[in-house]
Amino acid sequence: MDWGMKNRMAQLIQADGRCLFLPVDHGYFQGPTRKLEEPRKTIEPLLPYTDALFITRGVLRSSVDPNHSKPIILRVSGGTSMVGKDLANEGITTSMEEAIRLNVAAVGLSIFVGTDYEHESLLNLAKLVDEGERYGIPVMAVTAVGKELEKRDARFLALSSRIAAELGARVVKTYWCEDFEKVVRGCPAPVVMAGGPQVDTELEVFAFVHDGIQKGAIGVNLGRNIWQNDFPVAMIKAIRAIIHENATPKQAQELYESITSETAAG
Ligand code: 5RP
Repeated sequence: MDWGMKNRMAQLIQADGRCLFLPVDHGYFQGPTRKLEEPRKTIEPLLPYTDALFITRGVLRSSVDPNHSKPIILRVSGGTSMVGKDLANEGITTSMEEAIRLNVAAVGLSIFVGTDYEHESLLNLAKLVDEGERYGIPVMAVTAVGKELEKRDARFLALSSRIAAELGARVVKTYWCEDFEKVVRGCPAPVVMAGGPQVDTELEVFAFVHDGIQKGAIGVNLGRNIWQNDFPVAMIKAIRAIIHENATPKQAQELYESITSETAAG
């Protein structure tokens, strides 16, 4: 691995081998989604506790201070919307030249295995990896499921994750699922977990993050379950404790509760 690639990977994956990426890219197909209507207001309080931001160039330029930033994973795929025909029909939206201009640590793109656009999205990944390797920029592949959330099982996610790694992704973002060890075992690239739509309780989030880490994930790329929570800073601190301090779900819950009660009292 050349110096630039190594340096960028080290910006993303911390010295303990773990990472907490904060995705705020949802607007690229969801529009002003709940609690991300004004991205700067959502991002700023959470920035000190993230290891990297997953974001589009538009929100990066408009809503993140270049003087006080964190490593950037630039979302470079898109071209679809929640109200359009097919979420899977993504193309590459942002050039490698632009990624370099923005001094990013990585670029990220979705693949849509098992859809009508599987072929295009996988070739997009391969092309992006070719370009990224040329300039020392790692590619994070996102194993997307579009609106079909029920696809999030070990068989499908292991298949998608393995394909992403085979095509050269340096990091694979997938969902936590039952038997998550099967996904990690079959994927020869570091795996990070997304959260999906907000779940009912904080403890459920802490439990799946902890389980995924025990089963080999290096961290998370977790958005809505952090910033749609009523106490996003408490949530990110608790998740950070699981990832970087080996906290149990119970300890994370206690931390969350102690911060929320301080916030309510203060
Ligand atoms: C959106 C994404 C998100 O980055 C990813 O889904 C993680 O966010 P969340 O935890 O909210 O699911 O790729 O397309």
